[in-house]
Amino acid sequence: MAEKVIFDTDPGIDDALALLLLAASPEVDLRAITVTHGNTSQEKCLNNALKLVELGGIANVPIFRGASEPLVKELSVAEETHGDGGLGYAILPSSAVKPHDLLAHDAIINEIEKHPDEITLLCVGPMTNVALALLKRPSIARKVKRIISMGGAIHYPGNATPQSEYNVYCDPEAFDIVIRAGIDFTLVPLDVTYKCIFTKEHLARIDKARDEIKEFVTDSTRFYMEFHASHQDIHGCAINDPLAAALLIDSTLVTYRDYYVTIDLQSPVSKAKTIADHYGALKKAPNAKVAMEVDVERFMNLFITRMNALQ
Ligand code: BDR
Ligand code: CA
Repeated sequence: MAEKVIFDTDPGIDDALALLLLAASPEVDLRAITVTHGNTSQEKCLNNALKLVELGGIANVPIFRGASEPLVKELSVAEETHGDGGLGYAILPSSAVKPHDLLAHDAIINEIEKHPDEITLLCVGPMTNVALALLKRPSIARKVKRIISMGGAIHYPGNATPQSEYNVYCDPEAFDIVIRAGIDFTLVPLDVTYKCIFTKEHLARIDKARDEIKEFVTDSTRFYMEFHASHQDIHGCAINDPLAAALLIDSTLVTYRDYYVTIDLQSPVSKAKTIADHYGALKKAPNAKVAMEVDVERFMNLFITRMNALQ
């Protein structure tokens, strides 16, 4: 049976690619898309989600407006990485889809209470919406099946500060609440996602998809590749969020280590760093299954095959 999933996202170029991957995957029963601030403002991210479900042929999936600000810190956006509108050079037609009246955190609560132990939260943006749901209804922590979260950097350097990854950096207090909630938690950090560099050669293999899909992937990733080349000396672009989504389809694409992970909420130097207790010094039970190695070729093949299936 397909896995019931809520997709919490801040589209964002790689978020958009993850959404298309979900749209092409019968293993996933996408119940809701909840949108947060992150790569750009919540308003622009929401607008992108409304257009992307039409592009992906999943306009029936309800979309919920989420938090427009982090819990504590001031808002950050990453328009140098994702473009002014959040989708690079891609321009999508305006959408007939409207957001649902409920707010994202209420939608998360409702869906979990309706389907206890069945809902997976796939979180690929700042954790504000999920933290708000847990703060409002703490009992849902016992009813979530699991969380798969793209976030953090264990050995890899940060991409937002020298030590911290962007999703955690955007709302470290929210991430801290969620990772400490006792929910089965899979972390997909930069250590694995930055091995998944999507290149022009990969792009050329997306040759059977519908023209609009090909055009979108080409135009969005062109901007993303330019950013990676100019700011990180990487040729291609890291498709972080699609790797987290792909684990719903094939969990063996990565190998995991169980760690007790904490979020630095204090230090001016390493605030928002995800710290793994490698040698069990804190004598705490692990709270996260952390993806540490990835079979890049198998993941890229899966991603390209699914894009080509979007007809
Ligand atoms: C994460 O931050 C965002 O820019 C991407 O969409 C991804 O979710 C990578 O650090
Ligand atoms: Ca994202």
